[in-house]
Amino acid sequence: MDIKTILKKGCKTLAPLAGYSDAAFRRLCAEFGADLTVTEMVSVAGLNYKSKKTNALMLTSEAERVTCVQLFGSDPELFRRATEHREVSRFDIIDVNMGCPVRKVFGHGEGSALLNDPPRAAAIVKALKTSGKPVTVKMRLGVTDKRGAVDFAKAMEDAGADLITVHGRTREQLYSGEADWDEIRKVAAAVSVPVLGNGDVDESNIAERLDGVYGVAIGRGAVANPQIFAGERKLTRYEVILRHLEYGEAYYGERYIFTSLRSFLPFYLKGVPDIKRIRNAAMVCKDKQKLLEILKEADF
Ligand SMILES: Cc1cc2nc3c(=O)[nH]c(=O)nc-3n(C[C@H](O)[C@H](O)[C@H](O)COP(=O)(O)O)c2cc1C
Repeated sequence: MDIKTILKKGCKTLAPLAGYSDAAFRRLCAEFGADLTVTEMVSVAGLNYKSKKTNALMLTSEAERVTCVQLFGSDPELFRRATEHREVSRFDIIDVNMGCPVRKVFGHGEGSALLNDPPRAAAIVKALKTSGKPVTVKMRLGVTDKRGAVDFAKAMEDAGADLITVHGRTREQLYSGEADWDEIRKVAAAVSVPVLGNGDVDESNIAERLDGVYGVAIGRGAVANPQIFAGERKLTRYEVILRHLEYGEAYYGERYIFTSLRSFLPFYLKGVPDIKRIRNAAMVCKDKQKLLEILKEADF
């Protein structure tokens, strides 16, 4: 399947976010118009252990018109085997994490460490391509230096990558400073496959960011406001939270409200007058009805 039939120019996708892009949040974003959503990163080594948690990460919803799973690891053979895994094989697209900066991941030669090992990264893409599915790569500009980004992206294209998402920071920068969109656009101009620009996209700059790239991948901007994909705020914040909560409960049970949803609240409540008091009350609340009352008070 040609990726350009799935994603059109100007597309807006949900970037993978560990701890956030679970099935409930992906469904929410897909309903608001995200052209593609991606699971948070799943370890190819972990797949062998048949962990319940890993399978929970890979739940999907009907709202996700096209589904994409993100895998991380370092051994091309494990990636190849992953394509045969029952849960993984349900996905339409496979994305490879080549950007995770976390020390443990990097130290195992995974995530952003692949940026320093183009032959291994290329072997991973080739191994995944045996599945016959579109394979996409999510990379940073480099480990410490941005200058290798264009060559790395070209190597991924040569290996068979169908689309590349470029987060405009190096590993060293983690999430600090501003994403370098000039460098992202350089990569986009240098390869023939679609490039999604990523880093600091929000409601205020989305139109300008789309210039010079095929589309954008939005992470934290979507956590702050999932309606960014709709292009307008159709629902109030409280209505968004209610919907999120309904989906979270449906996929993961009531505990979702007091675990995962809590990580979203500081973002959802940003800009709410008296935010500190409301957030603190919400964070310690253990009763669903009371929590809803607290959050309703914060609606605007
Ligand atoms: C909490 C958190 C979790 C993330 N998890 C992943 C992940 O699992 N896979 C991945 O490729 N990138 C991950 N990222 C990186 C984002 O996808 C994105 O590249 C980065 O946040 C920059 O985009 P943004 O400014 O739109 O958030 C994560 C980022 C954050 C803040």
